[in-house]
Amino acid sequence: MATRIGVISSGRGGNLRYIVEAARSGYLPAEVAIVLADQKDAGALKIAREQGIEAHFFDPSGLSRAEYDEVLMDHLDRAGVNLVVLTGYMRILSPAFIRHFKNRTINIHPALLPAFRGLDAFQQALDYGVKWTGTTIHLVDEDVDHGPIIHQVPVKVEEGDTHERLKARVQEAEYRAYPEALKLFIEGRPKVVGRKVVFEERRS
Ligand code: GAR
Repeated sequence: MATRIGVISSGRGGNLRYIVEAARSGYLPAEVAIVLADQKDAGALKIAREQGIEAHFFDPSGLSRAEYDEVLMDHLDRAGVNLVVLTGYMRILSPAFIRHFKNRTINIHPALLPAFRGLDAFQQALDYGVKWTGTTIHLVDEDVDHGPIIHQVPVKVEEGDTHERLKARVQEAEYRAYPEALKLFIEGRPKVVGRKVVFEERRS
């Protein structure tokens, strides 16, 4: 079955741009079928529309988490999505959503998990004084920034790094890492064994 990706975002759409490019160039055997956002001004919506991809903003105000996620699931299902990709999506998904797309929802976090879960991983890394941080692409489970890891890429923290400089280097790494991780996940016949994602075919 062809992989149809549904992207959910609150953000600028930096990762989305590279995922769409990877799919359109043939590097990624998948199509970005739909983009959903919880922020009216999300850059991801603009990028999707420029690329001719179906894109919707849904306002979460006044809805419970479960009700809001019903709206998302309905649109993802109608678009035939079989892989959900989160790019800077800042809401926690409901248990029903996680069950519906179990082991088919992927997130990117800007740190080497399990370090620096939650908000502002760049500042957490700078404050802690680590020499290396990076990015993690992982399956989404019931806990925030916690599910089985698909791929990680380290990024060195430079002497005198500022938040902005570190963020720029980590995000540059993310733009390569997310398409790599998706390719591996789609082509590598993954199995989830406990906390581990095991690939029958290792291609990257
Ligand atoms: C990325 O850096 C991603 O790692 C981060 O949001 C940014 C989204 O950028 N995600 C999180 O912090 C989630 N915990 P983008 O909208 O330009 O792709």
